[in-house]
Amino acid sequence: MSSALFTPFSLRETTLSNRIVVSPMCQYSAQEGSASDWHLMHLGQFCVSGPGLVMVEATAVEPRGRISYGDLGLYSDDNEAALRRIVTFYREYGHSRLGIQLAHAGRKASDHLPWEPPGPLAPEEGAWTAVGPSPVSYGEGWPPPQALDPGGLEIIKEAFVQATRRAARLGFDLLELHAAHGYLLHEFLSSLSNHRRDSYGGSRENRRRFPLEVFEAMRAVWPAAKPLGVRISATDYAEGGWNIEDAVEFAAELQKRGCDYIDVSGGGLVPHQKITLGPGYQVPFAARIRQEVGIATMAVGMINQPRQAEAIIAGGQADLVALARGMLYDPRWAWHAAEALGAELEYPRQYRRAHPARWPQAFPSRRAGE
Ligand SMILES: Cc1cc2nc3c(=O)[nH]c(=O)nc-3n(C[C@H](O)[C@H](O)[C@H](O)COP(=O)(O)O)c2cc1C
Repeated sequence: MSSALFTPFSLRETTLSNRIVVSPMCQYSAQEGSASDWHLMHLGQFCVSGPGLVMVEATAVEPRGRISYGDLGLYSDDNEAALRRIVTFYREYGHSRLGIQLAHAGRKASDHLPWEPPGPLAPEEGAWTAVGPSPVSYGEGWPPPQALDPGGLEIIKEAFVQATRRAARLGFDLLELHAAHGYLLHEFLSSLSNHRRDSYGGSRENRRRFPLEVFEAMRAVWPAAKPLGVRISATDYAEGGWNIEDAVEFAAELQKRGCDYIDVSGGGLVPHQKITLGPGYQVPFAARIRQEVGIATMAVGMINQPRQAEAIIAGGQADLVALARGMLYDPRWAWHAAEALGAELEYPRQYRRAHPARWPQAFPSRRAGE
């Protein structure tokens, strides 16, 4: 039986050995933006477990662009050195490609850690001033961000460029720009958060101007041989907000500027969003962008069954599938998917004795391929 999920996929000169991606997942475990032992363990476990690509979590391009004080960053030499340890581990032991997502939290910055009481930090907890397209707060209890003026926009663009240079120097295989989930670039895209009257607000074309400028500036310094993609929210899931038609146009504009794939997520902009959750609930957005724009897509959101993932790839709805919670629950998801789909998957040599097809006597309760 041949599996579409386990066929290689190339973007520019980077080839992924299969279509399975570990979605970026904030760990809130960094110190001053620098990766810790937790990150080495968290990311390390996946590169010995078979996915084609592992994404490093949303990584802030400047300190005030962190969601929380535990966020990863790539704005200092210390941050760069801490990430080098992880890249080196991948080169030495890993079987997966390693990508990184660069981000700026915009008006959703200065938040508590998810396991602390919800809501923004209080001044006595070290709150910092968040920035955004307009002084419109995320929701009740949130302070309005400081609106970025032209000089402020330049500072942020330059921060993305510098972080891109650092990512290139570190040797990441792939780079992703985070323009989803209600963070800074998404805030520019949606008229619910962007009330500007200059050339960065108003029409759709104006609202996408800053995200496109950031993308272009990153593409100019990111190696031509390596892929650069963008995570978007295909919709705000809210009345009067950004929607799939906007997303299709945005994807087409990104493609013209050298974008290699769109990672199609959704929501996060406003607390009153209305999402109907279900298996693969965002896959139709990835399929539509792939079909209408002719760009590679990554589907994400409640994809956690091997046959479901296989059907998404085989049916041409997306080129890649990303899993987040499913990977935390079962870090060896790719091994188990290969077994379920009858695909060949090489285990790291240190772990070969755990391959059920090679050592069936060690797994009397399961037969490979079933
Ligand atoms: C712990 C955790 C952290 C996350 N952090 C990020 C992040 O850094 N960047 C991002 O784009 N999405 C982030 N997400 C969203 C996931 O990447 C993914 O889009 C979402 O969880 C839906 O996929 P799932 O149903 O497979 O979990 C996070 C999700 C989880 C569970």
